[in-house]
Parts: sequence; C-alpha cells; structure tokens
Amino acid sequence: MSKLSLDRILQSQGFGTRKYCRALIEDGDVSVNGAVEDNYKATFDTGDLVLTVFDEEWRYREHLYLALHKPANFECSRKPSHHPGVLTLLPEQFSWREVQPVGRLDHDTTGLLLMSDDGPFIHAQSSPKRHVPKVYQASTAEPVTEALVAQLLAGVQLHDEPAPLKALSCMQRGEHLLEIVLEQGKYHQVKRMLAAAGNHCSALHRSQIGGLALEALGLAEGEWCFLEKDQLDLLVP
Ligand code: URA
Repeated sequence: MSKLSLDRILQSQGFGTRKYCRALIEDGDVSVNGAVEDNYKATFDTGDLVLTVFDEEWRYREHLYLALHKPANFECSRKPSHHPGVLTLLPEQFSWREVQPVGRLDHDTTGLLLMSDDGPFIHAQSSPKRHVPKVYQASTAEPVTEALVAQLLAGVQLHDEPAPLKALSCMQRGEHLLEIVLEQGKYHQVKRMLAAAGNHCSALHRSQIGGLALEALGLAEGEWCFLEKDQLDLLVP
C-alpha cells in the first residue's frame, strides 16, 4: 500500500489535471472515507480508499479493468476515422487514465471487448504467445456445410501467414451460423478464414474470452462494467 497526497490520488484516478484536482479539493468538493478534506497535501494510504467527488463515490483503483459490450459501428483504433471510437462509450474520466482496448474488434464486430489502463496487462493479453481461446458467432452469406466446418478445423492458409490457421473448435449453430473458437488473434482472422474456406462472414459477434462470457456479465450493447479479480482470473489460459 502506498501513501500519496490527495491531489496526486485524484489525478491518478482520472479526475483531471493536478491543478484542477487541487482546486476541487480546496473548494471542499472532495471527501475521503466520508470526511471532507480541503488540504491537497494531506496524504492517504490508497488501499480501501473511498473518495467522494461532487457527491459521487469513487473507490480508489490502481488500474482499471473493464468489459464493454461493443456495438457495431464503433472503432477500436486510437484515431478513429469513419465511426466514433469505443472510448466515447466510457466516462470521460477513463480517457484521462488512458484506457485502451485490449486487442481489437473490427468496427462492424459486436461483443466482448476488454479495456484497461494497465500497460503490462494489455501487452500480456494481446501477446501472440498467450493462447486464450476466444469464442465467436459468425453469420455466413452462404449456408454452413460439413465441409466448411471440417476445413476450418483442419486449417486454412491465409496469404500472409507461414502456416495454415486452425479453429480450436467449430460448430454449426444454424443454417447460416457458426460458432468458432480461435486461439490466435490475427488481423480479421475469422473473416479471412471464412473467405479462404469459400464463404463470407456477414456479421460477427465475440461472446467469450477464456472463461469470461459476455452473457454472465449481463451487459446490453454499449454498456460496460468493472472486472474484479475473480473475473480477471477467468482470462488466464
Ligand atoms: N476476427 C475478425 O475477422 N474480426 C474481428 O473483429 C475479430 C476476429
């Protein structure tokens, strides 16, 4: 547990610049564990710290780990060009903390997207060495056939990959619907694998990462939630 001055604590939590945070404190807008504190130099242990800023409670979090139910027509890139960025779906406070998507979903893909401001976590989760299975529901333009499923399980060659890529599992869920589980996270992987197998992905949804299922989080499209330790543990391969 570390002791930090209140202005630094507020800034670390994304409430604004140090100058702005000092002004908030001096104006009496900040309480710490229920008591107003107007001295920005006062220091506190950050463990179990509950701040109240403008009457809203905020539990100190060293890092943010979030799950978002990404809707279609939002971009994961830092500089979105054709659609709004996924960050616009989160409170502004999180942008101050430089929250970023963990990996990417295409602008037209919906479903579970992790977001965090913890660099090593983002890096570890996005590493190609980390084999966390990801579950997708892919709608197909042409009917799903046994041959398509067999091909995706056996492996399909993408033009810029040294070896064929295989689905970890692949099941027909409807005439035009596949559930496909992938371990790798290559660029447009589901869409490119389907195209290489002679079909076309017309819509894509990610329902699960590791043991963390979107359904269990109960998020409607566009909603987000904090992930706690037991949920993060489900992401370990
Ligand atoms: N595969 C794709 O093709 N697109 C995604 O958004 C995710 C996986």
